[in-house]
Amino acid sequence: MTHRCSFLLLFLFISTSTSTSTSTAVDLSTTLNISDLCLYSPNLSSLPSDRLTVLISAYHPSRSALLRRLTLSYSSLPFISSIVILWSNPSSPPPTLPPHPKLHLLPLPSSSLNLRFLPLPSPLLLSRFIAIADDDISPSPHSLSLALSLLSRRPLSLLGFFPRSHALDLHSKSWIYTLHPDRYSIVLTKLMLLRADYLHKYSCWNKLSPARAVVDRHRNCEDILMNFVAAMESGEGPLLVGGRVRDYGDPRNRGKGETEIGRVGLSSRKEHWESRGNCITEFHRLLGVMPLRYSYGKVVGEIGEQGVCRKAGRLVLCDQD
Ligand SMILES: *[C@@H]1O[C@H](CO)[C@@H](O)[C@H](O)[C@H]1NC(C)=O
Ligand SMILES: *[C@@H]1O[C@H](CO)[C@@H](O)[C@H](O)[C@H]1NC(C)=O
Repeated sequence: MTHRCSFLLLFLFISTSTSTSTSTAVDLSTTLNISDLCLYSPNLSSLPSDRLTVLISAYHPSRSALLRRLTLSYSSLPFISSIVILWSNPSSPPPTLPPHPKLHLLPLPSSSLNLRFLPLPSPLLLSRFIAIADDDISPSPHSLSLALSLLSRRPLSLLGFFPRSHALDLHSKSWIYTLHPDRYSIVLTKLMLLRADYLHKYSCWNKLSPARAVVDRHRNCEDILMNFVAAMESGEGPLLVGGRVRDYGDPRNRGKGETEIGRVGLSSRKEHWESRGNCITEFHRLLGVMPLRYSYGKVVGEIGEQGVCRKAGRLVLCDQD
């Protein structure tokens, strides 16, 4: 009973801070209790399907200038209904962000990667679909709105921009994590779109509890586990969307001041790929199913004709002079 009361208090606190439209920091850190958040599953049909809630995980104080730029650009988009920054670094104070009625900053009590899929309490969840994004990813508005429009046809799928694959290593009889040239079964949380209730399923399903412990033990693989959840729910693979997404954490970035951002990323660790293969094998063992399915191709926004014609002795696109 006391837990329910603390949730209600928390609910009221958030409602007040959103309605005044000035405060951006929501102090959940002392009251945040996953078991309480799990009591309320979102009613998806009451939430608009043409809006997105953006959920950004942030950890590095060194990226706060970029975070300010990102929140500014997300908040300017009319189809973004709210932006929730999960500050997952309890040993460092959260950055100061310019206030905006759409923006909410949630300092988390621990850096557990499972909290990246925190089941959002209803005042913060204003849409049927969520965009999960890293704090070093900047999608073009067009790519995001294309992805959102695709969800009306594939509402159960994960949509993403960064594909990976699982594959069976026949020699060791275990799963490996890899990148195939022509098929994929996993999309990364760098930028992914999903149904809001998958947050709830990821965090609250009892059967996932040993798998969530694997995520905490490896400090990795939360995105792979979410791909398992979506594939178990949908029976299908993810959908890859083509589009322009700036990835500041990509080590191939050469710009000044961006090397620090590239360096602090978790995925630069050498044993990263091997460790993620082990996660797939462990999830399969713990859940007793291998739900991951391959998908092929990707959806692109441009619909220009691609016919090739001979003009002036050269092969060029027919539309091109
Ligand atoms: C969270 O809530 C659950 C049940 O509502 C309770 O058992 C647990 O002790 C709470 N945890 C904290 C840290 O308050
Ligand atoms: C969910 O929301 C819809 C639309 O607002 C409503 O008709 C329905 O009764 C709600 N379902 C539940 C279980 O509350």
